[in-house]
Amino acid sequence: MKQRPDRLFNPYRACFDNMSSNLAAELLRYGKSKSNCISLAQGEGSLPTPSFICEEVHRSLSEGKTFYSFGAGLPELRQEIATYHSRIYGHSLPLNRISVTSSGTNAVHLALMSILEEGDEVIAVTPIWKNLIGITELAGGKIIEVPMEQKDGKWHLDLQKFFGKVNKNTKALMIVSPNNPTGWVMPTEDIRAVLEFARARDIWIIADEVYGRTMHDLVKAPSFLDYAEDDDLLYVVNSFSKTWAMTGWRLGWLIGPGHSEDKIRDLILYENMGPPTFTQHAGIVALRDGEDFLKSQKSRWKRNQELVLDALSNYSRVSIVKSPAAFYAFFQVEGETDSFALVRRMIDDVGVSLAPGGAFGQGFNGYLRLCFAANPEVISQALKRLEPVLKDN
Ligand SMILES: Cc1ncc(COP(=O)(O)O)c(C=O)c1O
Repeated sequence: MKQRPDRLFNPYRACFDNMSSNLAAELLRYGKSKSNCISLAQGEGSLPTPSFICEEVHRSLSEGKTFYSFGAGLPELRQEIATYHSRIYGHSLPLNRISVTSSGTNAVHLALMSILEEGDEVIAVTPIWKNLIGITELAGGKIIEVPMEQKDGKWHLDLQKFFGKVNKNTKALMIVSPNNPTGWVMPTEDIRAVLEFARARDIWIIADEVYGRTMHDLVKAPSFLDYAEDDDLLYVVNSFSKTWAMTGWRLGWLIGPGHSEDKIRDLILYENMGPPTFTQHAGIVALRDGEDFLKSQKSRWKRNQELVLDALSNYSRVSIVKSPAAFYAFFQVEGETDSFALVRRMIDDVGVSLAPGGAFGQGFNGYLRLCFAANPEVISQALKRLEPVLKDN
């Protein structure tokens, strides 16, 4: 950093400057830059968005739906989100609790921007998707990690340990369920306990439920909204990305207490004025007619999971817990302690890119995350290439 005579000159905001480095993003880019590298590093499949959703964009454009939307989203889409919650979950949500956002990522950002003061602590269940750590830091907050452990062949959160981290600086609890990367799903009784705990202390809950429809054997995962009261300090984040293969669309929604509506609307207006009008129209169709597509995706994920577990079971160095949701294999490789170096080696030596476990929180640097939402042929090829890396030394 160049020096001014009177002081050390730093052109950036402190929280921007202090954000933790994002080595996983570097590796993702590195893998993508290699023409023959198979990437199972990112959280998406290889199927494009189904045509019945894309056609709605064409129709909307041809009908001139190219004007500014409303701050909190098109009223028709907000209504459709309410209808979807009622049909799938049995939730009754007034429209003033629903905001349409430019992705799930954006929804988390809006939620945290609306509540965090500089130095506030957010207690997060880990492993956790790296962006949620970054967004918290950017909003001036500090993530306090509470790592899950494996118990009886499952990932497990010790609630007392989680609650034990709360202190006077705690502003929010952050929970991703179903979880990326483990596929862990918070049990119903824990959801209720967290709600009660937070309610008694006026602490916010940020519940990221973008994988809520990815349960392999159930229609949906338990949601915080199943038990919440309308004015609980609760933000629930959702997205079109994972459920309907719409990762590139940048479309999601945020459910908050009714009293947050105007502020969230203004945040959206000041940030980007919300997602494109014509994609919001397509979002209505995804919510209304997307169940068959989701069903076919789920059977694909389930088959792919078997394929991956089968292959990984051949390696004594690899240990993995079978997940009930999402489309990730999060596995530990005995003897490996630097997942970032391991991923770089895999890209260079065998042409496979995975996500480094170290990106998901402290204590997970011996892990790798493989996304099994891709074509089974591609996954098989990647698994074959991984053989020399994973076999006994
Ligand atoms: C837990 C979690 N939340 C949010 C997102 C992002 O969703 P979107 O594509 O809507 O930004 C992801 C993407 O991987 C995720 O894993």
